[in-house]
Amino acid sequence: MATATTAAHGVGSLGPIAAQDFDVQRVREDFPILHQMVHGKPLVYLDNAATSQKPLAVIEAERRFYEEDCANIHRGIHLLSERATKAYEEVRVKVQHLLNAPETRQIVFVRGTTEAINLVASSYARRNLQPGDEVVITAMEHHANIVPWQMLREEKGVVLRVAPINDRGELVFEEFEKLLGPHTRFVSVTHVSNVLGTINPVREVVRAAHRWNVPVLIDGAQAAPHLKIDVQELDCDFYAFSSHKVFGPTGVGALYGKVRLLESMPPYQGGGDMISSVSFERTTYNIIPYKFEAGTPNIAATIGLGAAIDYVDRLGMENLARHEHELLVYATERVSQIPGVRIIGTAREKASVVSFVLDGVHPHDVGTVLDQEGIAVRTGHHCAQPLMERFKVPATARASLAFYNTKEEIDALVEAIEKVKHIFG
Ligand SMILES: Cc1ncc(COP(=O)(O)O)c(C=O)c1O
Repeated sequence: MATATTAAHGVGSLGPIAAQDFDVQRVREDFPILHQMVHGKPLVYLDNAATSQKPLAVIEAERRFYEEDCANIHRGIHLLSERATKAYEEVRVKVQHLLNAPETRQIVFVRGTTEAINLVASSYARRNLQPGDEVVITAMEHHANIVPWQMLREEKGVVLRVAPINDRGELVFEEFEKLLGPHTRFVSVTHVSNVLGTINPVREVVRAAHRWNVPVLIDGAQAAPHLKIDVQELDCDFYAFSSHKVFGPTGVGALYGKVRLLESMPPYQGGGDMISSVSFERTTYNIIPYKFEAGTPNIAATIGLGAAIDYVDRLGMENLARHEHELLVYATERVSQIPGVRIIGTAREKASVVSFVLDGVHPHDVGTVLDQEGIAVRTGHHCAQPLMERFKVPATARASLAFYNTKEEIDALVEAIEKVKHIFG
């Protein structure tokens, strides 16, 4: 197993490795967790859409913070607090670069994608939307991009419109466009579906919404681990992602927003750090992004996120995407050849997810047998119950890939599915 000093791909500012230098076996050395047995079998981790694994560089960065720099940020005059603040704020710059945001103050740290969407719904939408105003989402949203809008519907009487998808799991763009109109006040869509892997044409979604002067939030939870993101090119108004899906720690994520919108929005929560002055008569709020960051944040996790961004930068997103695409093609071909298997989600533009159902076997049973074979997949509705209804299935089994997965692991998956068939056949 690699150690901190022997990790194959540590933090570095040398730029991405060359394509021919991407060696999945070396990369795997950076992930201690992958080298273990589960029920007596080597672990095959194919639940990356739920959360991804962390390289040593991330684990070390968090540990280093607690060992050397642990202090609260933005408050202390002492050296540790200065160091912690500097490290924390440096990550904001890294996230800015990750998303190609124009300014650092456009990056708000939150707990994750869920909190980012709730922030926008509670602050921007609650302030600006009136009864009868419409919010457009799609049929492939995660509950995190459905329920906050339903809560707003209950509170304010806004109307939720849902753009349909076709049988491949692609957004029916013409139908989406038809939903836009004089009553539309907000559009919120996922960049990549966590169940189907569909990559949505978010640039076109933004363009269409902007023709009606409607702001767009993009849920990037499943895109950030697989795609290069450029919020300026997308011209989206908000973009959200979670650290734990991009190989960083749990408990932190980021919301990007356009300055004009962020500045016009009321605070989301009240408390320390988000104010500029407080008296019992009157409180004035801090500038963006701090206005939205009440209380002590998850400092260590944020610093870990910075290490994750460096790590992915070093490997090069293009190299990772190429490897993942090869794996996806291979997995799709092999899994779809198993008689009785139906893949749910066959979009032409697709990222690393293979959701499937097996004739006559409940996905939970599939998952249980796979677990016995050391293979971790997710089974259930994947926090997308309306999507399950759309495909008329109660649940699916989902293998979701990351750049440290291998073709041999796909072979193990296929063999294990054959075993499920044997047991239940
Ligand atoms: C598409 C999508 N959106 C939002 C979320 C919520 O992310 P988090 O639980 O990190 O807030 C997820 C998590 O699986 C997701 O896949």
